[in-house]
Amino acid sequence: MRKLFLRGGLVAAAVAICGIAYLILTGPEMQAAPDIKVPMTAERIERGRYLFENVAHCTGCHSPRDWGKFSAPVNAGTVGSGVEFPAELGLPGRIVATNLTPDPETGLGNWTDGEKIRAIREGVSRDGRPLFPFMPYPSLSKLCDEDVEAIVAYMNTLKPVKNRLPQTKLDFPVSLMAKFAPKPVHGKVTSPSRSDRLAYGRYLVTIGDCAGCHTPKERGKDIEGKEYAGGMEFPIAGMLVRSANITPDEETGIGTWTEERFVSQFKGHAEKSFETAPKAVQANFTLMGWMDYSKMQEEDLRAIYTYLRTLKPVHNPVERHPPVAN
Ligand code: HEC
Ligand code: HEC
Repeated sequence: MRKLFLRGGLVAAAVAICGIAYLILTGPEMQAAPDIKVPMTAERIERGRYLFENVAHCTGCHSPRDWGKFSAPVNAGTVGSGVEFPAELGLPGRIVATNLTPDPETGLGNWTDGEKIRAIREGVSRDGRPLFPFMPYPSLSKLCDEDVEAIVAYMNTLKPVKNRLPQTKLDFPVSLMAKFAPKPVHGKVTSPSRSDRLAYGRYLVTIGDCAGCHTPKERGKDIEGKEYAGGMEFPIAGMLVRSANITPDEETGIGTWTEERFVSQFKGHAEKSFETAPKAVQANFTLMGWMDYSKMQEEDLRAIYTYLRTLKPVHNPVERHPPVAN
């Protein structure tokens, strides 16, 4: 009997070891990068700039930000040059947003356009490494073909910045789990028509990954029933902000906001710039890139509002700027 137990234990251990070895050795689900060279037209580059800086806010994660100023703006000359996230955020490892500028040594200068598109939508680096899904490729996979090509066209025009950064290093076991996040995108990807406000608003909220900051998470997973209900904490530079509840709950969300109020909440920051932004203090501290978002087209803001109105209202009071000892 004891022998049998012993044998059972050995088998279980062997299975576990094989399982872990499989996880370590296996690569992510991936396909070859598409063979595409994005045509560099002025219109496409401008569309890409708009998406990169004002909607999907790639700028906000992939550039050094001045945490000493309101909404942590980015100095124009450093857009897309990469950054290591502050350790205070408590992320599972050393997380580095890549230098996306065309510098051949420290950026993406030697990447093909297809490799860039695959990384953005499918979460696989040039060498097949799975990207940590903090890079919101599960949402960016919805970027339609024209839009992802526009973003790449704009990235190709960024000023090359020499900025050598270490590679992301995830803690165990997140490092193993990250391999399951990449998913190939097949066939043609289209976006809803802009005239369908609700559907287009959902598209913008998806590629803008508003949920990334506004849906609270537990061990990296969205908490079910709390979609867009806010309350995620971001401690940075000795300050702390919690994301707002943007569901239509009347008491704790934006349920009483008119469309005009929503639009002017964004447009109200349009006059500020990197140079003139007020100093960040605990009472106004935020990492929501208000100045960049303020340049969103009014029609797009109205579409976003239309979609947000259809979310399930969630009662979740959030103190966005709690008192903290500075
Ligand atoms: C919430 C933060 C965040 C946002 C928003 C974001 N990224 Fe990333 N991105 C990252 C991080 C972090 C990595 C590195 C992940 C890793 O190394 O595992 C990354 C990696 C990448 C890579 C792959 C680079 C490489 O070395 O393999 C590309 C390309 C990229 N991002 C482009 C974009 C574009 C374009 C956008 C906007 C549409 C964007 N990112 C939005 C955080 C972000
Ligand atoms: C990088 C994190 C981050 C992202 C991405 C983000 N937000 Fe926010 N947002 C915040 C934080 C933090 C606050 C609360 C502090 C403040 O008001 O700035 C906030 C506040 C807001 C508010 C103000 C609500 C109020 O009651 O005053 C609205 C509206 C909003 N966000 C909408 C959006 C939308 C729409 C998107 C996507 C296009 C988005 N946010 C993306 C972090 C983010």
